[in-house]
Amino acid sequence: MGFCRWLYAVTPPTKPVTYRRRRSPWLAVSTFALFASAKTVLAEQGAELSLQRIGNGNPVAGKQKSADERCQECHGAEGNSGDVRIPSHAGQYAGYLVKQLSDFKSGARSHEIMNVMAADLTQEDMADIAAYFASQKVMRGDRIADNPLAKNLFVNGDAARDLPACVSCHGENGKGKIADNIIYPVIGGQRRVYLRSQLTNWKLGERKNSPEAVMNKVAKSLNDDELNALVEYLSGL
Ligand code: HEC
Ligand code: HEC
Repeated sequence: MGFCRWLYAVTPPTKPVTYRRRRSPWLAVSTFALFASAKTVLAEQGAELSLQRIGNGNPVAGKQKSADERCQECHGAEGNSGDVRIPSHAGQYAGYLVKQLSDFKSGARSHEIMNVMAADLTQEDMADIAAYFASQKVMRGDRIADNPLAKNLFVNGDAARDLPACVSCHGENGKGKIADNIIYPVIGGQRRVYLRSQLTNWKLGERKNSPEAVMNKVAKSLNDDELNALVEYLSGL
């Protein structure tokens, strides 16, 4: 986490080191191991679902690239972030990760660190890195606190103010889904402070890259108590 702390504490103007990817002789060995483990995940989840989750990138190349590009230092070697402000990617839909990286690259989504980190990734890099993180065991929270306010909003929404239930889009326990070609990301088990910053950004209109501004509408109708309750609830799932 050394680089990560440093970059996070100091405003990062550029990527500090340019790592060029080189094929290591070890790759052949680790390739085999990783394909074996990706296959286990495939077998566990059902091949079709897994392909949907992992997309068409190469998880083996993605493992190496995400190490070379230093993504793992902040997002965790297996995509589980050790910092509540930094999102986990473990088991996140690859298509969602690629969309976010493209949005950081184009500026459609702003974040001073991630705009720099995404700047020189090619489409292939994005697909490979996303496939690697997506093939990991899905992120999971550990605090199952009773939270009736949040649970009710999550499961039922609130028809009186046209607030759809989160579960209708983000799936059971917020583990995400793909429906009608829209990817609803995993939010259950996501890091707590990151979730709060995203809901706040959607609410203030500082993040506006969701299809038809759906998340801006959702977040705008939440008051602060509800937003905080949802953050506690979701991060524990
Ligand atoms: C110095 C720490 C740091 C490094 C290095 C880093 N990230 Fe990030 N990343 C972050 C933070 C912080 C956010 C949250 C951005 C926000 O609040 O909008 C983020 C967000 C993201 C997101 C959006 C996740 C979501 O759920 O919407 C993706 C995808 C991502 N990073 C991928 C990468 C990739 C790929 C690399 C390597 C090329 C990388 N990151 C390197 C800190 C980092
Ligand atoms: C009508 C569908 C829909 C509903 C209802 C919905 N969401 Fe979303 N949400 C999305 C989509 C689509 C995205 C991905 C946006 C993008 O591609 O950038 C998203 C993204 C998010 C993110 C960002 C995840 C990340 O990793 O950055 C959070 C947090 C979130 N939603 C929370 C919620 C909560 C909490 C609720 C219920 C109060 C909710 N959503 C209801 C469709 C929905």
